Amino acid sequence: MRKKIVAGNWKMNMDVQGTENLLNALKSESLAADVTVMVAPTFVNLSAAKQQLSETEVEVIAQNMHFAESGAYTGEISAAMLQAIGIKTVILGHSERRSYFGETDEILEKKVSQAIDKGLQVMFCFGEELADRKSGAHFNVVASQLKNALFALPKTAWSQIILAYEPVWAIGTGETASAEQAQDMHAFIRKTISEAYDATTAEQLSILYGGSVKPGNAQEIFSKPDVDGGLIGGAALVASDFAAIVNAFN
Ligand code: PGA
Repeated sequence: MRKKIVAGNWKMNMDVQGTENLLNALKSESLAADVTVMVAPTFVNLSAAKQQLSETEVEVIAQNMHFAESGAYTGEISAAMLQAIGIKTVILGHSERRSYFGETDEILEKKVSQAIDKGLQVMFCFGEELADRKSGAHFNVVASQLKNALFALPKTAWSQIILAYEPVWAIGTGETASAEQAQDMHAFIRKTISEAYDATTAEQLSILYGGSVKPGNAQEIFSKPDVDGGLIGGAALVASDFAAIVNAFN
């Protein structure tokens, strides 16, 4: 079902105390009731965060997971481990995972399929690099990222997918895609899904924008018809900024 969603990707920030402080600050903010709010602290703080938010509507989600069930994968976390602590959603394919940790479309396809099989919801991130945008290849790059990692999924799996379009050149750079650039790409993504599956699947899908979303630009970006919310990095680390973004839908 298409929902308004704002998710905070905390990346490798906030130790146990920092997590507690930030969540306390967030709990004192008022958040629009029609927006699904998610936060993604680091693995070691997921359980504490879940406990701390147990009486709120804010969902705790994971930043990553491995594609295998279990076994000799030192340093990795499985879908079942996330589920055992009550995590229902996992971010996969973030551009930092792709560029610093070598996650290819092929690896991501395995991760997505494992998460879906295990009943997790996937927030799948993708987006072009600056050179792709400059050369005009951005639509093709995005279409192939989607096709390679997702289009082997059966139609039924799409109820477990949220997409997060994050142009790499806009992540953590202070440079945002204009609301028009975001809308153009989101409309293209929806059309691509509609062609690969069907119009209903595309229409029900939540497509988030990510990349330097701040309180000052969120409202304009979220006002676009194919933008269903945001995946927020830096601004998610300041409770009042994150709340302002959650409350930025018209
Ligand atoms: P940013 O990060 O908001 O700091 O640009 C977004 C993201 O990486 O998901």
